[in-house]
Amino acid sequence: MTNEIKRPSYDLVILNKTSKEKFKKFLLSLGNKTQNTFNHFGEINTNTVTSIAIREITRSDKEKFFGFVGGELIVYGFLTRFDKLTKKHNCTLGIVVSDTWQKKGFGQKMCQHMIDFAWKHGFTKIWLAVYSDNKNGINLYKSLGFQIEGIFINDEKFDTTNRHVISMARFKNGKDYDKKRLVMWKKLNSDL
Ligand SMILES: CC(C)(COP(=O)(O)OP(=O)(O)OC[C@H]1O[C@@H](n2cnc3c(N)ncnc32)[C@H](O)[C@@H]1OP(=O)(O)O)[C@@H](O)C(=O)NCCC(=O)NCCS
Repeated sequence: MTNEIKRPSYDLVILNKTSKEKFKKFLLSLGNKTQNTFNHFGEINTNTVTSIAIREITRSDKEKFFGFVGGELIVYGFLTRFDKLTKKHNCTLGIVVSDTWQKKGFGQKMCQHMIDFAWKHGFTKIWLAVYSDNKNGINLYKSLGFQIEGIFINDEKFDTTNRHVISMARFKNGKDYDKKRLVMWKKLNSDL
């Protein structure tokens, strides 16, 4: 007898656009816990959702990825390009899965799609920031080959609580730079 978990499988259709109404519905489906870990847009509510949706859909510095299951928008991801000429090989990844569709493998599928897209379109590094208390996020990124690049203590303040931000990166060349970071860290601390 095996304890194999039977997981339902859904097809994820990923498109580079969606309607404003679908995007608004998706944004309003993000509950407090999700908004606490993904707050790129500030507070999402019925008063703010239209301007957030319009601004996001029309941004030209982002590659956008809208993931649908049976026509319902359930995951949104993006890769943001940097303006700086010396950072053109680098981009920032962001992702949010709607509350009821989390922990079903869609975050993983969407991130993998975005990684493949990035490598195909000339990027060689993908960078992201995640709160240190976001275990789901950190585990997902580690499983996809992201390395911890830095820890920013008390980087953000929420009322009376400070939160630490972890920066993570994945490289097209597949190299693990942990040792190099450690050597540099020690040298910087001893030399300065
Ligand atoms: C963090 C986030 C993007 C992860 O996406 P997700 O779809 O929930 O994650 P996945 O389902 O792909 O993977 C998470 C877990 O589900 C498991 N899983 C994979 N396929 C599965 C399936 N078909 N059924 C059940 N579980 C599955 C994975 O093994 C993984 O398990 P682990 O946590 O024990 O390693 C998502 O939870 C989210 O949007 N959270 C709120 C916003 C947020 O934190 N965004 C990131 C900010 S940096």
